[in-house]
Amino acid sequence: MRKNIVAGNWKMNNDLAETMELLGHLKSQLVKEPDAEVYVAPSFTNLYNTFQCLKETPVKVAAQNMHYAKNGAYTGEVSASMLKSIGVETVILGHSERRALFNETDEMLAKKVTTAIENEMTVIFCFGEVLKDRKAEKHFEVVKEQLENGIFHVSKAAWKNIILAYEPVWAIGTGETASPEQAQEVHAYVRKIVGEKYDEQTAQDVSILYGGSVKPDNAKEIFAKKDVDGGLIGGAALKAIDFLAIVNSF
Ligand code: 13P
Repeated sequence: MRKNIVAGNWKMNNDLAETMELLGHLKSQLVKEPDAEVYVAPSFTNLYNTFQCLKETPVKVAAQNMHYAKNGAYTGEVSASMLKSIGVETVILGHSERRALFNETDEMLAKKVTTAIENEMTVIFCFGEVLKDRKAEKHFEVVKEQLENGIFHVSKAAWKNIILAYEPVWAIGTGETASPEQAQEVHAYVRKIVGEKYDEQTAQDVSILYGGSVKPDNAKEIFAKKDVDGGLIGGAALKAIDFLAIVNSF
């Protein structure tokens, strides 16, 4: 059975003091048994403190990125073993900001996915079309290509550690959300192609999150769709009250 999941991607926001303050609010306001599995993804500098702070809670901690190499001369990069050594077992890969602003290609992402899976980490794999592709009605094609090139090389067994996140780029940070129907349509398509590539069980078991301007006032409607299993939240994850309202939107 697939899980409901809400993950907060804090992006490049919050210094140490701000991180600890947000964590304090999250900890005090989170209900004992939330409706969803909850993740937060702070910046690298705050990962260790965040993990330590959330240790006794059900909230999991994810990194926002990782390098594919084991170690070596990669100035400025962070490896899987470094993340694991501080307790972080989950990594977001393929976010559209990494693709667009830092030139991450499908090929690089495929290597990162391989490394994460080899290290038994959970991967939150992001994909989604830009506005131009949506307008040209190429979104299915784009999504299929990103999945085929970035993640469909892993074994069937690896899918127990994979969470997919559909984030149409035109809906990220813009206030413009995909309609629940638009999200459902792509999610159902993604589940179909996972089923064709692997098998029906794998397709039914994978959680597919929607990301892009999810807020407390639209989360319920989006999460109610059959193939939407939760959300990857940017802006609204920076306020505990909003994030927790989204967590409780199932
Ligand atoms: P917003 O929720 O700010 O649109 O960001 C979505 C996102 O990019 C999460 O990874």
